[in-house]
Amino acid sequence: MEQTIGIFDSGVGGTSIWKELNTLLPHEHTIYLADSKYAPYGSKSKDEIIALSKKNTEFLLSKGCKIIVVACNTATTNAIHYLREHYNVPFIGIEPAIKPAALNTKTKAVGILATKGTLSSELFHKTTDLFANGIKVVEQIGEGIVPLIESGKIASDEMKALLKMYMKPMLDANIDYLVLGCTHYPYLVPQLLELIPSHIKIIDSGEAVAKQTEAVLRQHECLNHTTNTPTLQFYSNGNPKVMSQLLGDSYTVEYLDF
Ligand code: SIN
Repeated sequence: MEQTIGIFDSGVGGTSIWKELNTLLPHEHTIYLADSKYAPYGSKSKDEIIALSKKNTEFLLSKGCKIIVVACNTATTNAIHYLREHYNVPFIGIEPAIKPAALNTKTKAVGILATKGTLSSELFHKTTDLFANGIKVVEQIGEGIVPLIESGKIASDEMKALLKMYMKPMLDANIDYLVLGCTHYPYLVPQLLELIPSHIKIIDSGEAVAKQTEAVLRQHECLNHTTNTPTLQFYSNGNPKVMSQLLGDSYTVEYLDF
């Protein structure tokens, strides 16, 4: 089975998910679409996020994708139900790793850094109610983080100042787990480690999403075990250089007027 895994995000952040997928499923062809021109999604309305997610899905389907990974927490929480109802391929979404954090916390306090679109979604509230009963969940909107990442300013002083401000209420609440609820944020781990004590564990959803994708492909009997040099395509309607920097020199990112 030679069809491709399609992955989309509001921008470059979902490459953190692509890396996990490519590690677990090294024989699979992949097409990654960064909708950077319209980032951030986190402050957009549900209807806008659905419209953008439809546009991205239709592009990936036109390329013959067999499954679509919505590598964006905000698009998952706001649009995945719509996508599953309207398109005939499996969709894998990203949900913040609240469950493992809530199950393992010793201080009974966990922090979640995510976009406004994710934190205000019904899906997020349902997950929190289900798994974090009796646990203090310190929610923090990561306002301004995604635009800085999309403009290549991950290690800037501006970013450090924002993260310091966002971590403060979590540190005050004595969290021992920090959940990264946006696929852009794993790129901030080095900066976060400088700001928070070492006993706080930082968790994201990348590995779980890759495992779920593998399970669904297996269930549909369309896992690729044989291709040794898969085609790995990357498209961006923003500045392709920003994505190239995150991926490394061996990958080419094509600009797409989209
Ligand atoms: C954003 O575009 O605001 C962030 C995407 C995400 O939630 O992963």
